[in-house]
Amino acid sequence: MADTAPTALPAWKALARHAEAMRGMHMRDLFAAESDRFRRFSVMLDDLLLDYSKNRMTAETMRLLFDLARASGVEQHRDAMFAAERINTSENRAVLHVALRARRDRPIKFDGKDVMAEVGRVLDQMKAFAGAVRAGTRRGSGGQSFADVVNIGIGGSDLGPAMAVEALAPFRGGGPTPHFVSNVDGTALRATLERCHPESTLFIVASKTFTTQETLANAMSARAWVAEALGERAAGRHFVALSTNKDAVAAFGIDPAEMFPFWDWVGGRYSLWSAIGLSIAIAIGFDNFAALLEGGRDMDEHFRTAPLEANMPAILGLLSVWYGNFWDAAAQAILPYDQRLARFPAFLQQMEMESNGKSVTRNGKPVAWQTGPVIFGEPGTNGQHAFYQLIHQGTRLIPADFIAGARNPAGLGEHHAMLLANFFAQPEALMRGKTEAELRAELAAKGLAGKALEAAVPHRLFAGNRPTNSILYRTLDPRTLGRLVALYEHKTFVEGAVWQIDSFDQWGVELGKQLAGAILPELAGPEPPASHDSSTNGVIAHYKKLR
Ligand code: F6P
Repeated sequence: MADTAPTALPAWKALARHAEAMRGMHMRDLFAAESDRFRRFSVMLDDLLLDYSKNRMTAETMRLLFDLARASGVEQHRDAMFAAERINTSENRAVLHVALRARRDRPIKFDGKDVMAEVGRVLDQMKAFAGAVRAGTRRGSGGQSFADVVNIGIGGSDLGPAMAVEALAPFRGGGPTPHFVSNVDGTALRATLERCHPESTLFIVASKTFTTQETLANAMSARAWVAEALGERAAGRHFVALSTNKDAVAAFGIDPAEMFPFWDWVGGRYSLWSAIGLSIAIAIGFDNFAALLEGGRDMDEHFRTAPLEANMPAILGLLSVWYGNFWDAAAQAILPYDQRLARFPAFLQQMEMESNGKSVTRNGKPVAWQTGPVIFGEPGTNGQHAFYQLIHQGTRLIPADFIAGARNPAGLGEHHAMLLANFFAQPEALMRGKTEAELRAELAAKGLAGKALEAAVPHRLFAGNRPTNSILYRTLDPRTLGRLVALYEHKTFVEGAVWQIDSFDQWGVELGKQLAGAILPELAGPEPPASHDSSTNGVIAHYKKLR
């Protein structure tokens, strides 16, 4: 099965024919013909609703997509992940972020060993440490409790924790102030240090490999800042590490006893559930962190056990395949109508684009089909006043996910109702559009006639038929965030399984790192470089003149 190209599968060919038959269909007509579309095309997991009825699809489309998933071995691949098989073939690793949120008393064996014992041990270490920092019993070198906690990391060692800490801000309950520094641009660290005091700041150096240039540069500068104020010996008390690389942590000068370990079977972009989540546990308290894990586990159980036909991640992943491979959609928008999810699109950008931005199969053969979409987004309603124009009236098809909570602890009178009115209106507008007859009647009612009316019509028409999913939950609490993150993790998994790619490596980021490593020493002297192409040489030469 894995050796047959997805495009050669009968289910794929049937979908290609079906897509042709669907070209002229409009969702408006589908809704008119099927009054129970919402009931048929929505799924619930407790309070969490996925309404996928506003898509260019019929029951036949879904049946063919589920056929494709079965023929592609999505379920077997999923089971292989949960069974700790080495499905990350290019790195010969298991993919076990699901173990990080699994029940401790249910063994998960990898290489003959139950990983749950180690997972539980690290969770206990995190619980004790987070509790002590929050209670002020774990202190800095001068005896002050920590008022500020700075997570230094990048990519998966930053985006997940930073997103989660912002999303769960109402659950902080008086702990230290969290900060996140990722970019090697000195502006980022400088701005954070200006808000902190060395004697009451804890730095968490988060790096799976502990070789990432940006993170080590920021950590070294932070350490110099502490050492300058408090002395070299005192600095150690202000640093802990989250990593899989004990030797590199020790070489950096952090006591391995102050290291929170994890394992190579945790991918960076899937790591917020691991020791990498220490900044989350400190920010919101360990019990809330445990509720986040529980939410992830709920979604794992759903993904593992629900039939594809009622399986949220499978449905989202297959619709993504539908648009990417059969409708030529290159991008997807993630639109949280929940300000606290402001960083969710950026987090999903790494999850989807690093996971599925691949052009060879797991067996190393070039793919002849499209893979991962471009992911972008901003919180509603900000996005509405920025890029929705293109989604409504542009020439490209951009499927969009709308995400919102029914309750918002921010309060402030009518704000939440106004926000949600937009959350409901946009998918409706994108689906329905505005017909010419509706528009003409509307313009005429406003007094437009003749040439003015004719001139206005083409600009104000909305074709509609633009696909959306709506995701609605009670409120954004730790468990719900856990469910949402795991939902998109598994959506990404389903896509990768259909496309037969390795969603868990990221070789594409290596070349740029190598070249930057080679260029850094060349920036030292005044002489222009000659070893590159004329463009790179020219830009570096100009930089040397300007600096
Ligand atoms: O460069 C990409 C990447 O390897 C990501 O996959 C990862 O999340 C990030 O860098 C950070 O890596 P590390 O945690 O090893 O510092």
